[in-house]
Amino acid sequence: MQRIETVSALRTQIKDWRQQNHTVAFVPTMGNLHQGHLSLVEKALQRADKVVVSIFVNPLQFDQSADLAAYPSTLEQDIQQLTNSNCDGLFTPTVDEMYPQRMDNQTVISVPNMDTLCGRDRPGHFDGVATVVVKLFNMVQPDLALFGEKDYQQLLLIKKMVADLNLPIEIIGVPTYREASGLAMSSRNHYLSEQQQERAAELYQTLLSVQRQLQHGAQDFLLLQQRAMSELQQSGFQPDYVAIYRAEDLEQAKYGDKDLRILGAAQIGKARLIDNIACDLTLSW
Ligand code: PAJ
Repeated sequence: MQRIETVSALRTQIKDWRQQNHTVAFVPTMGNLHQGHLSLVEKALQRADKVVVSIFVNPLQFDQSADLAAYPSTLEQDIQQLTNSNCDGLFTPTVDEMYPQRMDNQTVISVPNMDTLCGRDRPGHFDGVATVVVKLFNMVQPDLALFGEKDYQQLLLIKKMVADLNLPIEIIGVPTYREASGLAMSSRNHYLSEQQQERAAELYQTLLSVQRQLQHGAQDFLLLQQRAMSELQQSGFQPDYVAIYRAEDLEQAKYGDKDLRILGAAQIGKARLIDNIACDLTLSW
């Protein structure tokens, strides 16, 4: 695996692959890799001749500098895991390489209607994500890029941005990779004690219980959301939201909508966890 740190070296490598008619898949990450990230790389290897992973902890998407400073860095282990996974290129730009101008002087990509769910209390977060992803897309110029369903709002944002800006890149969503307990794998799980990790799996269980109730014909979505929030509270979480939204655009769902997404976010111990599951009611009603 080639490790590349500058945009110009990256362009040279990509050009070389293009001259050999290779297709290129891209997996952007912030490092501290786990099996969830590696499942994206695996999928990428099935879909393209060459796979590039980036590791860049993007300051533009952190609204609190303490969060940014605390973001875990495990580069040596990450390199080892990526080498074992047969990834072809690892792009690790510095902040100066990514933002040679001052960051507050940076052109920003702003995707509309992102102020719900995880965008509500994190002003600028999704603009920061959109901006770094479009920069990375312009650097790598991949045929396809893979994102986890784990961050469902982020996945929809990228799909909308690519459509709105006519970027010639296929976006592929990859199902959430989970621990045996059902807990979605996340870099933030490291902040939890073993006991908290066990309890954290209740977030997924709560979403599944909402899904079951919907499949059995429950009609009062607001009540379902409220009950799920209380259940989380009783299990020791400080819930942020449980939401039953339309899967295609994350608008509040109403009775009769069939293609739904159930999303939850909750704080437990030092970690804010997010999770979501699909809920297809086409066959239920
Ligand atoms: P990061 O949190 O490192 O995640 C990188 C990719 O891995 C994202 O597409 C995310 O959805 C996916 N991922 C994380 N946990 C997963 C799991 N358990 N199962 C499947 N996929 C999972 O998301 C970011 O970085 C950044 O916002 C980024 C897109 C790189 C822009 O800075």
